[in-house]
Amino acid sequence: MREIKIGIIGLGTVGTGVMKILSCEGTRLQKHSGVRFTVKRVADLDITRDRGIQIEPEILTTDAKKIIDDEEIEVVVELIGGCEPAKSYILGAIQKGKHIVTANKALLACHWEEIQDRAKEHGVEILLEGAVGGGIPIIRSITSLLTSNKIRSIFGIINGTCNYILATMAKEGRNFDEALQRAREKGYAEADPSLDIEGVDTAHKLVILASLAFKGGVTLKDVYVEGISKITPQDILYAREEFGHCIKLLGVAKEWEDTLEIRVHPTMIPENHPLSDVDGVNNAIYLEGDNVGSLIFSGQGAGQMPTASSVVSDLVSLAQRIDRPSNHPLISDVEPRKKVRPIKELKTKYYVRFTTLDQPGVLAAISSTLAKYRISIASVIQKERGPEGPVPIVMLTHEAEEESMVRAISEIDRLEIVKAETLLIRCEEMTTTN
Ligand code: HSE
Repeated sequence: MREIKIGIIGLGTVGTGVMKILSCEGTRLQKHSGVRFTVKRVADLDITRDRGIQIEPEILTTDAKKIIDDEEIEVVVELIGGCEPAKSYILGAIQKGKHIVTANKALLACHWEEIQDRAKEHGVEILLEGAVGGGIPIIRSITSLLTSNKIRSIFGIINGTCNYILATMAKEGRNFDEALQRAREKGYAEADPSLDIEGVDTAHKLVILASLAFKGGVTLKDVYVEGISKITPQDILYAREEFGHCIKLLGVAKEWEDTLEIRVHPTMIPENHPLSDVDGVNNAIYLEGDNVGSLIFSGQGAGQMPTASSVVSDLVSLAQRIDRPSNHPLISDVEPRKKVRPIKELKTKYYVRFTTLDQPGVLAAISSTLAKYRISIASVIQKERGPEGPVPIVMLTHEAEEESMVRAISEIDRLEIVKAETLLIRCEEMTTTN
């Protein structure tokens, strides 16, 4: 039987999960793929910690170069995350003709073209099912199962930490800081949680999905990014009770009229849309293809075994093709780079929360400024009375241009009666064009 020797760089949570699957499911994987996987070496800076699995000590090393330089190793599984030294290890392994399996979303998002070009040059494959959506099989669905479609749009809840925070605020009325603390205690957040809450992790994953779905050419610079730290439990309550919507951090990527729209921000979506049911730390990706229509993929977007499941599925997929003469790039028909529409050209409905004094003339001042910028109000609510202090005024607008909206709000925020920065949340109709 054909044997494939692999080297694993990074024996953290996911690396340990991969070792567990390879040792428990070895026979089944062998039957399915017709290949025997042998883990020849595992590199990690800490090779003494007990991870609750049995590993022969002689395969452990603290030196990743021992994997890269080992001529018998055909596949390098990179699971250390971050840009360096992961990038040098991956490029070094590619140079030596090794295939790569990685779950490193930040590295792929920041250096997509360079890594893909090098892989092509050396005739090796890069597989990355674990990089987006943990255990959800979204990458191969886009690159393989949906190739008979032109993908028009992707809407993703692809950061479990933010979804958990928003869901906890919604269910328990906790404020943002308390909900974040709970997410950290549960181990969902990145080492630097600002990557989660500021939307950067979602942007990394969206760049990968959009590059695959729209055939290349999407970079991190193309993505408008806004996080969730300004959302309050009251916004979530008003969205639900007054407007029948919920608030999610969405990654949105659309292709229409030969342009792309790529953005990450808190978004109001109708409560009857399937994405609004995505609870806790789960992830979901809703996409539209021209032939298949709409699809939703959901499941555990992070964690040891779900992500390890995706990584091992990449090994099996590679095993089935490894001896074919030509390599199989993820995008075989790269298209010329498309124009990305700047966020100021977005047209959508907005939820707006003003914080103002509770006195006559306040609404008139706000609405006349909105009218000046041709923004039409669909609905307005003032829930509380507060002669002593500021009160929230919440509005839903009809469709308006982002540029006009931003200019109007900046003018309104300079009024004496406005006591805190106004919050805008974009609404999403969940269609390809808006
Ligand atoms: N911090 C990430 C999340 C982990 O919350 O989704 C998985 O990429």
